[in-house]
Amino acid sequence: MKNIKIAPSILAADAANLGEELKKIEVGGADYVHVDVMDGHFVPNMGFSPDITKMLRKHSNLVFDVHLMISEPMKYIETFVKAGADIVTFHHEAVENPAKVIDYIHSLGVKAGVSVKPGTDVAVVEPYLEKLDLLLIMTVEPGFGGQSYIEAMNDKIKKARTMIDALGKDIDLEVDGGVTAKNIGMPAGSGANVMVAGSAVFKAEDIPAVIAEMRAAAK
Ligand code: DX5
Ligand code: ZN
Repeated sequence: MKNIKIAPSILAADAANLGEELKKIEVGGADYVHVDVMDGHFVPNMGFSPDITKMLRKHSNLVFDVHLMISEPMKYIETFVKAGADIVTFHHEAVENPAKVIDYIHSLGVKAGVSVKPGTDVAVVEPYLEKLDLLLIMTVEPGFGGQSYIEAMNDKIKKARTMIDALGKDIDLEVDGGVTAKNIGMPAGSGANVMVAGSAVFKAEDIPAVIAEMRAAAK
């Protein structure tokens, strides 16, 4: 049985009550909190800053899974680590030398992840896959919550799972975008073990129930 982790994205939370929203998912059984960072350049939207991340950290014991959707991750990684990130994920498409960025993240004492956009072949991560703690497959175009899961990504998830298993290393395979309790069987069945979910969790009436439902549906 796979060890499924649920990572609610606070992009979909009530921004005026973030502390309370964080408590809700922690009590509700989440494993990670997914923090979306956007610079208005790599993606056409803006998102969480290091300062907000630092303030949120004080309200939570969850694993802080920071997703950098920014053009120059090297400039901001250390600030996010100091703010409390446990995992820092950057985009393959944003950097020249991903292996160097991964080494840099590790030198700061935290886990390193790489993300690929829907249009990027996951084979691009092959040269440095063994360095990674987490591989994030985007199942929507990055930038906004509330979009629909792109089913064509299931094959990419399967390919990534095959690559990870061939390596024999315990690398988290995360999916992000449009994941709900209804469709979570697709990424789970394709081999993903970390499920980001924004709207599906935070727009739910009963957060603990929806997290439990997702976990059960992913097994
Ligand atoms: C999209 C973000 C996602 C987003 C997911 O750019 O990276 O983390 O918040 O939200 P939902 O689950 O609503 O698609
Ligand atoms: Zn994200």
